[in-house]
Amino acid sequence: MAATRGEFSSRFGFVMAAAGSAVGLGNIWGFPTQAASNGGAAFLLVYLALAFTLAYPVLMVELVIGRYAHANAVNALRRISPSAAIGRIGAGVGIAGVVVASLILSFYAIVAGWMIAFGLASVMALMGQHGAAAWLTSFSFSSNVLFMLLFMSLTIGIISAGVSNGIERWSARLMPVLIATLVALVVYVMTLDGAMDGLKVYLLPDFERALSPKLIVAALGAAFFSLSLGVGTMLIYGSYINDNENLPVVGGLVTLVDIMIAVTAGFLVLPAMYVALHNGVEIFTATGQLISEDTLIFTVLPELFATMGIAGIVVSITFFALMSIAALTSSISMLEVPVAYAIEEHNLPRKKAVLVIGGLIALASLTILLNFEALFGFVITFTTRYSQPLLGLALCIFTGWLWHRNTVLKELQKGAPDVAAGWFWKIWPWYIKFFCPVIILAIFAQSIWG
Ligand code: TRP
Repeated sequence: MAATRGEFSSRFGFVMAAAGSAVGLGNIWGFPTQAASNGGAAFLLVYLALAFTLAYPVLMVELVIGRYAHANAVNALRRISPSAAIGRIGAGVGIAGVVVASLILSFYAIVAGWMIAFGLASVMALMGQHGAAAWLTSFSFSSNVLFMLLFMSLTIGIISAGVSNGIERWSARLMPVLIATLVALVVYVMTLDGAMDGLKVYLLPDFERALSPKLIVAALGAAFFSLSLGVGTMLIYGSYINDNENLPVVGGLVTLVDIMIAVTAGFLVLPAMYVALHNGVEIFTATGQLISEDTLIFTVLPELFATMGIAGIVVSITFFALMSIAALTSSISMLEVPVAYAIEEHNLPRKKAVLVIGGLIALASLTILLNFEALFGFVITFTTRYSQPLLGLALCIFTGWLWHRNTVLKELQKGAPDVAAGWFWKIWPWYIKFFCPVIILAIFAQSIWG
């Protein structure tokens, strides 16, 4: 079996793929929106703290388990367990991850479909097709279904091409484009009137708000979602890394790229909000609450773009193209979770696994679209706010308490011979054993009883 497993062909390819998974709607739409509604700089501060102290260690857990086992999460957790009984629990955690990853993709494909539709709407507007543009931005059932299906088809197409031809090639191409576009938009927005007000909100913290339990839970969910943790995405990407790679370093690079892009997106979205405000677009209610938090980007940004004339249409096309690309490099990493499981545990050929599972997830998306009010928010909360941190907690316990410490060290030493002497090995094992589980539980306890 080892011979048939794909592998990333270079460090650049892996970092781009893992960063491509991490960077997505979560960073560019979720993080700035949440920062805007949770006190700007206060949220930024807590997010940064949690990303480095909780999310990075959990990312390392996934990468180490994945590369050690060279297998999907179900098989991998079974393999690092000290007994058959615990192995069954491990397999259960892996299967929960497979289900959660699939559910995440089912709502993600809907939001990503909106991105494509809004991008196309601007193309239509440029061509004078205002009727078509209005339909594309209407969130109607027919357009929702159409663009969800289009996005799922793109995801399915890339994943059926496998690891180095599909995931790596596309991520390595698309990620640099994404970063360049984002930076260009930030530079552009800064030249507009009102941008400085947004910058102030983003950079001047209100420390009282930073300690509110609601803000901390939101920031934890945002950090886990943003780094694609808990469901086995990073574990399966880790299983495709070459043994010579220095895991703490590549994990650190991925974390840095992910956080940098989220923070950069904040430099776009918050100033853009205040530019819109300056131009007469209403974004706050009388009490200072953000209007339409979830659809901030879809309501405020197009209005912002519209105030820029023809240039705005071009900016809009660029922006939504960027969002669609970011979503695609993330969605492929979600689909790879159930697909790798089906290939390795049930011996399905890749193409068949991708089609069957992609089809099932599209059906789940359709179900959400048919019951939008009841299901959309529910699925998001259930998967990202609860499932992801709790599964991350389980992975910490498996690695910190159940897996043999020497085996963990040996795995790290493959690509980092001096790791035992460095700071990483002094801090991380202790961290995932005590700090991460306790803090994750404490944050949950706060949110439930606090
Ligand atoms: N991290 C991605 C984002 O920020 C989304 C993502 C990709 C994801 N794979 C995941 C989220 C697995 C949770 C689990 O948009």
